[in-house]
Amino acid sequence: MSRMTYKLASLAEYEDFFKQRGHEIACLYYESGSDEEITLKQNMESFKRLRIKPRVLQNVTSNDVTVSLLGQKVDLPICIAPTALQAMAHPDAEVATAKAAEKMGTCMVLSQHANKSLEELGAKTPNGLKWLNLYLFPNRTVTLDLVRRAERSNFKGIAVTIDNPSLGNLKRLHNQEETTVYYRRIIDSHGYGHLEKYLKGYDMGPTLQSGLPRDIKITDPSATWEYVDWLRSKTSLPIIVKGVLTAEDAMLAINHGASAVIVSNHGGRGLDSVPATIEALPEVVKAIGDRVEVYVDGGIRNGIDVFKALALGAKAVFVGRPILYGLAHSGEEGVHNILEILKSELIRTMRFTGCRSLSDIKPSFVVHQSHYAKL
Ligand SMILES: Cc1cc2nc3c(=O)[nH]c(=O)nc-3n(C[C@H](O)[C@H](O)[C@H](O)COP(=O)(O)O)c2cc1C
Repeated sequence: MSRMTYKLASLAEYEDFFKQRGHEIACLYYESGSDEEITLKQNMESFKRLRIKPRVLQNVTSNDVTVSLLGQKVDLPICIAPTALQAMAHPDAEVATAKAAEKMGTCMVLSQHANKSLEELGAKTPNGLKWLNLYLFPNRTVTLDLVRRAERSNFKGIAVTIDNPSLGNLKRLHNQEETTVYYRRIIDSHGYGHLEKYLKGYDMGPTLQSGLPRDIKITDPSATWEYVDWLRSKTSLPIIVKGVLTAEDAMLAINHGASAVIVSNHGGRGLDSVPATIEALPEVVKAIGDRVEVYVDGGIRNGIDVFKALALGAKAVFVGRPILYGLAHSGEEGVHNILEILKSELIRTMRFTGCRSLSDIKPSFVVHQSHYAKL
């Protein structure tokens, strides 16, 4: 893809640009959801079914969008979700994303399956707030080693993905012989980040994921909450549990030592037909109350979506695919612009609703569209 220097005006324009100009397999990999992609679509559609009730004449000359995440102050409640293999989008990959996050003053979660290592991000973005994403590897020595490396590189949290007992059925990627070749080419040319050292001596086999050695498989069907207990006992970094969709699992996450939960369905890439995340959020917020922080990701495509998620009780949101579209368009600058757009759209929405700070954004601002059908 040619590197563009001009800025686009909306996340939708970045997505269109990527679809037209991105590598075909990268597009399939990024855009895909599982099975019929019902959840993928609903993640976005469900936001559109919510209406905002505005309030006016509240003196909204200044708007404060700063917030603290697990004791760390960030300049906006819009953070970066972990997404694998960002070299598919841009050769600077996760380093460009981390630099944009640092410049904007927000938090980035670095995927476990990154092209750039956590040490490189630690060195190149010393002032950026970063959490490391971990899957629950069967080999706990590897997990523990990664946790220690994250501690040494000044990461401030471990975001544990718990929603992958099995790989999602990304149908659009099926029967694509070139997919494997492409994955391998990306890893051979750009590296396999912090996992590289554990892969020495392994032949990764016919496909990237099914061929990963068992030690560092993305999925482990034998994992239980005991794994989270164990992790909790091994580090003083806060554990953020990513992939909660029900009140029951939210309570279990707290009981097993989570400091925060991310309401997430893996961007519609796990089990299809689970609820959209904005639909699941109120149930989780109600169950958790103020006990731990609640965040949400999935389907956020503009600042109005961010406002709705905050109104329904999320302390911050995380964004996945749009960051990749910005990265593909113009590296660090593109990611920075995606975050700028979301921030300015959030501030505009706050002005129209009479909210001066994030604490002014209350559940009463948002109703389901069916509220008006009853009139
Ligand atoms: C291409 C791609 C790769 C992803 N890789 C990871 C990953 O390595 N770890 C993880 O926990 N979630 C991963 N996710 C899920 C995201 O963290 C996040 O939950 C999701 O993308 C949010 O939805 P959105 O893309 O609509 O913003 C990935 C998602 C995509 C689209």
